[in-house]
Amino acid sequence: MVEVPVSLGSRSYRILVGAGSLAAVGPELRRLGPGRKVVVFTDDGVHERFGRTVLDSLGGAGFDTAVVLLPAGEAAKSLEVAREAWDRLLSAGCDRGSTALALGGGAVGDLTGFVAATYMRGMNLVQVPTTLLAQVDASSGGKTAIDHARAKNLIGAFHQPRLVVVDPCTLLTLPEREFRAGLAEVIKHGIVLDADYFGELEKVREDVLRRDLDVLERVVAGSCRLKASIVERDEQEAELRHVLNYGHTVGHALEAATRYERFVHGEAVALGIVAEARIAERLGLATRETTLRQVELLRDVGLPVHGLGAEPDAVAQAMTRDKKARDGRLPFVLAPSIGSFRLVYDVPGPVVLETLVELARTG
Ligand SMILES: NC(=O)c1ccc[n+]([C@@H]2O[C@H](COP(=O)([O-])OP(=O)(O)OC[C@H]3O[C@@H](n4cnc5c(N)ncnc54)[C@H](O)[C@@H]3O)[C@@H](O)[C@H]2O)c1
Ligand SMILES: [Zn+2]
Repeated sequence: MVEVPVSLGSRSYRILVGAGSLAAVGPELRRLGPGRKVVVFTDDGVHERFGRTVLDSLGGAGFDTAVVLLPAGEAAKSLEVAREAWDRLLSAGCDRGSTALALGGGAVGDLTGFVAATYMRGMNLVQVPTTLLAQVDASSGGKTAIDHARAKNLIGAFHQPRLVVVDPCTLLTLPEREFRAGLAEVIKHGIVLDADYFGELEKVREDVLRRDLDVLERVVAGSCRLKASIVERDEQEAELRHVLNYGHTVGHALEAATRYERFVHGEAVALGIVAEARIAERLGLATRETTLRQVELLRDVGLPVHGLGAEPDAVAQAMTRDKKARDGRLPFVLAPSIGSFRLVYDVPGPVVLETLVELARTG
């Protein structure tokens, strides 16, 4: 088992990454000395696959457990579902020492995190992510949210988990498209934060796609470590943490412009990375070679690197509504070389638009 520490003073915690670690959730939580009650939030499909192992582990460590089944996917992130979750915590007799445990993808994690952040002004939270995206991104870092009718993730809070348990074995049942989408975030971490990690990904791409467990354990732990290194330095996204949004300025706009129907998140991020790499090139910040390495790795793991699926104007329009914009200025994360980044606030509109037009033409 690999242990990734996240050092945040009194809010520090560990991310445990290891095949078979689901069965260790109970004893690992016990070590932290929380109250006896643990409410497990999950969805039907995930519960059927992994619920028993987690509940047995918790029971074996002396916890009283209850299960709350949430709607699968984004439908979990609503105020109605949160209200019902608060009710269930109350009727289970939970207090601030009790634990809310999220077992599932990023949606289950975000809803559970939001509910845990707000119930009695904050109860214990444990994340047990079962999708690749949730394992390398959503489960650590403390961002929690529900959706507003007008924008995703608009209502939320920062609330760090006490423990994150990542079992790569859960990835073996993940649909191919979801698995590949998660790889976009993995590749993103390499591009902006660590050239050696990126080089390693280039080497093991076939093993990753075969879902070799040893390789997945290494890759997932490496990605968690990179994310933790940023969260430790900028917990609440004052500035540095924006780096984790590489590919997302264009990616989010692409998702919005295609009404969240055409792409899964990671696919939009892959195209966003390609666009942002080309923007860096146009600005003379990066070489063609740097763009090509990114495009090749994304393409080789089966992510889209051509076309836009939307009108360039519509994508540019959607960008102006990004909630990261400050006084109308939108921060772009650009990668001058593999393993480095720069935040750029003044990318000229025409450069963005020309890049989008070019990308649309290659579709
Ligand atoms: N808080 C953060 O920092 C952060 C970061 C990135 C994304 N997110 C959020 O994460 C959400 C997306 O998460 P996601 O991509 O994990 O999708 P998801 O949570 O919507 O789950 C997708 C589907 O996968 C199924 N599933 C989960 N694990 C499985 C497994 N092991 N095998 C088979 N099926 C499985 C689920 O039942 C669900 O139907 C979005 O709401 C996004 O906003 C949050
Ligand atoms: Zn993302």
